[in-house]
Amino acid sequence: MSRTRHESSRIIGSGSYFPDRRLTNADLEQMVDTSDEWITTRTGIHERRLCQPSESTSDVAVQAALHALEMSGVEAAGIDLIVMGTVTGDMQFPATAVFVQDRIGATNAAAFDLSAACSGFIYGLNVAHAMIVSGQAKRAIVIGAETLSKFTDWKDRSTCVLFGDAGGAVVLEACAADEGILSSHMRSDGSLSSLLCIPGGGSRHPLDAGTFARGDQYIHMKGDGVFKWAIRAMVETSKKTLADAGVPMDDVTLFVPHQANIRIIDAVVERLGVASDRVIVTLDRYGNTSSATIPTAYDEAVRTGRIGPGDLVLFCGFGGGLTWGSILLRNAIARGGAG
Ligand code: ACO
Repeated sequence: MSRTRHESSRIIGSGSYFPDRRLTNADLEQMVDTSDEWITTRTGIHERRLCQPSESTSDVAVQAALHALEMSGVEAAGIDLIVMGTVTGDMQFPATAVFVQDRIGATNAAAFDLSAACSGFIYGLNVAHAMIVSGQAKRAIVIGAETLSKFTDWKDRSTCVLFGDAGGAVVLEACAADEGILSSHMRSDGSLSSLLCIPGGGSRHPLDAGTFARGDQYIHMKGDGVFKWAIRAMVETSKKTLADAGVPMDDVTLFVPHQANIRIIDAVVERLGVASDRVIVTLDRYGNTSSATIPTAYDEAVRTGRIGPGDLVLFCGFGGGLTWGSILLRNAIARGGAG
C-alpha cells in the first residue's frame, strides 16, 4: 500500500439499493395489533422495503456499491479499501465486505466489516477517511447495508413496524485539505448496550434451543430509553463537529440525520435550529434501515439535485452500542450526480 499521506478525502460517487417488496402500515395491521394512525404519528413511517428470503446483505450492498462506482467513474480495480458498516452480515465470518469485494471485482482492495449498528456508516466513513489521510488507501468504498427484516420478530409490534432493508454506498478519494470531510466526531457508551441489541448468536449466548425459546435471535429494544438519549446525543455530536470546523449551522445546506423516528429528527432539528427545508427525511418511505439510512438519504439528495458542489452537508447518526457520531463535509458531486 502507498504511504503517501493525503490532506483529506471527498465523496465522488454515491449509490443506493432498496428491495422491490413494499410493506405498508396497512399490511402490518393484518400482521400485528397496530394501526396506520399509531405508526404514522409515533414514528412517521408509512412503508418500508423488505428483501426476498433469498437476498442477503451482500446482495443489497453490491447493488449500492455498483451504483456508487458508476457515478464516480472509477473502475472497481482502482479501489484499494472497502469498509462496510453492518450488523446483519451474511455470516458470522468472513466479513460481508469480502463478498462485495469479490462480486464487484475490486481485486486490489482490502475489505472488512465494522460493527456500530445504525452508526455503522458514520464510523466506516470516518475510518476510511483516516486511512486515506494516513496514506494507507487512496480510494475507498464505504457501505452501510442491512437486512434487518431477517432479525425482526414479526410478532413484536414494538419493533416490527420500525425497520426496513436497504444498502447505501459512497466512493471516497484523497483530496486537498479544504475539500471533502472537514471535521468529525465519534463516541460510544457500552453501559447502555442492553437498550438495543440482538443478544443471541454470539459467543456469550451461542444459538441453541434456549435462544429461540427466548426470541434472542431477534432485535431487542427499549424504545423509550433510546428515544430520549438519541436526541441528546445527536445534538451534542452535531454541535461538536460544527464547532471543530468553525462552521455555524446556518451555513449547512443539508442536514442528514439517521432516520429512526420523525419525532427524534424534529426534536434534534429544533434544538440545533435547522431550517426545515434543510433536513432530508426518507423514513416515511423506507423506515429505519440502520447503517443504510445516511448514505441512501445522501444519495437521494445528490441524485435529485438537492445539493451541488461546494454545499456543506452534516451527517449525524446514533445506534446500538450505544454509538453516535457526525461528519461535516463539503459536497464534491455535481447536482444530479453527473461526473
Ligand atoms: N402499535 C400500536 N401500539 C403500540 C405499538 C404498535 N406498533 N408499539 C407499541 N405500542 C404501544 C405500547 O404497547 C404502549 O402501550 P401501553 O401504554 O398500553 O403500554 C404504547 O403503545 C406506548 O408505547 P411506547 O413504547 O411508550 O411508545 P413511544 O411513543 O415511546 O414510541 C417508539 C415507541 C416508536 C419505539 C419510540 O420509543 C422510538 O422511536 N424509540 C427510538 C427507537 C430507535 O430509535 N431505535 C433505534 C434502533 S436503530 C438501531 O440501532 C438498530
